[in-house]
Amino acid sequence: MTPIDTSSHHTTDTTGTSDTIKEVIDTSVCFQRDILPIFQGSCAIGGCHDATTRAEGYNLTTYANIVARGLKKGNAAGSKLYTVCYNRSMPQSPTPKLDSTKLSLLKRWINNGANNDTNCISMCDTTKFTYQAAIAPILNNYCVSCHSSASAATQGGGTVLDNYNGVQVTAMNGTLLGDIKHSSGFHAMPKGGSMLSDCKITQFRKWIDAGALNN
Ligand code: HEC
Repeated sequence: MTPIDTSSHHTTDTTGTSDTIKEVIDTSVCFQRDILPIFQGSCAIGGCHDATTRAEGYNLTTYANIVARGLKKGNAAGSKLYTVCYNRSMPQSPTPKLDSTKLSLLKRWINNGANNDTNCISMCDTTKFTYQAAIAPILNNYCVSCHSSASAATQGGGTVLDNYNGVQVTAMNGTLLGDIKHSSGFHAMPKGGSMLSDCKITQFRKWIDAGALNN
């Protein structure tokens, strides 16, 4: 086994410019994984910023459209798309406001340069499928914008998925899995968005097979 060479100084900066170069890229935020679902779930909704309605001229369905208007790459504070969410004027009721996690992701992504990151490392793990660790966070990211207690009646067909009891009903009657698998005869979910990853669907399947517990 080769011992670790502690004497090498690969990272030493000999030009003296390291203090001025502070371009630390935050790799923990990734457009396809973290940001697009926020826009699809909370903004690109029918009657709001989908391709048909384009409220106020904003079509927030795809990367190209999202960066085309109200967004200054590298400057979240100067980007209307961020500031209207931060000052809570958007999304409009009954769609819930963005929580602090989503606001932080959006801010970091814009400050990073608002890149179209597609090769996102998946943080999904099919061996973890409890309600608290896996199911509720996925629902919160991809579904609750339409299926919260407040928004469900007008945006989510009356199905409430922001609490265990509501989710359990759909788990047991088969609609939850049928919908996210886009099975024929079901309502493809997330509505109008892309299908969840295979890994996330597997987490749902395993959780339901194990009895859809409040665990
Ligand atoms: C953009 C809004 C929106 C998003 C996001 C969304 N849904 Fe829905 N959902 C609806 C609407 C509207 C309905 C009523 C049926 C229809 O119109 O397709 C519905 C119905 C459902 C139903 C009941 C279907 C039935 O057959 O009775 C389930 C279960 C469901 N959604 C699960 C989900 C899950 C899980 C997600 C996230 C992965 C999700 N939805 C994301 C809008 C949404």
